[in-house]
Amino acid sequence: MFNNKKNAESSIHLDSDRIPKHIAIIMDGNGRWAKKRHLPRIAGHRQGMETVKTVTMAASKLGVKVLTLYAFSTENWKRPKDEVIFLMGLPVKFFNNFVPELIENNVKVSVMGLIDQLPENTQKAVRDAISQTSKCTGMILNFALNYGSRLDIRLAVQNIASEIKNDAISISDIDDDLISRHLMTGFLGDYADPDLLIRTSGEERISNFLLWQIAYSELVFTDALWPDFDGQTLRQMIFEYQHRNRRFGGLKNE
Ligand code: FPP
Repeated sequence: MFNNKKNAESSIHLDSDRIPKHIAIIMDGNGRWAKKRHLPRIAGHRQGMETVKTVTMAASKLGVKVLTLYAFSTENWKRPKDEVIFLMGLPVKFFNNFVPELIENNVKVSVMGLIDQLPENTQKAVRDAISQTSKCTGMILNFALNYGSRLDIRLAVQNIASEIKNDAISISDIDDDLISRHLMTGFLGDYADPDLLIRTSGEERISNFLLWQIAYSELVFTDALWPDFDGQTLRQMIFEYQHRNRRFGGLKNE
């Protein structure tokens, strides 16, 4: 658990050569943020959307290549209907309001998950944002929306199995790289696996997020609730990451 107070007052020096290329975030704590203020849960989600804007800009300015945000899981449909409706409206609000700024900052939007199951207006907002930012060449802002990692793996296995059945590939072609390319992050190529996975709100679990892809990611947990997370907190997380020794199963690099 990262201690938020550490470095909070001093400016945090980051090594610009070691900025994580792909950061994935489990944005948690919106409900608790609202509860602390005696507000309805949706107020926390609304503020959480503002944090998405702040963190997107901060990550883009730091030179992050891919920012993957867990916005709605395949399990989140179990939440009360009103909350689900509100959450489905957030991408619409976010893209309506924020796409010009994304384009100005050369940020390209992508979305992974079962998009076809989303309400029509959410699907349209998502598809429009993808097409409006398709020419941007800077950071990829990748939303996991109606995403679950077991679903991701199951679909990849099914696709690989049908390619074998159709004689497009043979069983011996299955290796890590082939599996990675069949997952929903496959389009990210060399950046498919996050270097750094952050979870906010003090919870320390993965919740069906990018299970294959985080095999060698550095995991950083913070007590900060997502609506309180900001550019400074992001720098703290990256600072922590830069002081880890990534070994990928090899020996410590002295
Ligand atoms: C988890 O907090 C948060 C979510 C399930 C939703 C996350 C969505 C956003 C932050 C906004 C997304 C914005 C866009 C543009 C799609 P929680 O509700 O489980 O919090 P709790 O654990 O405190 O109850």
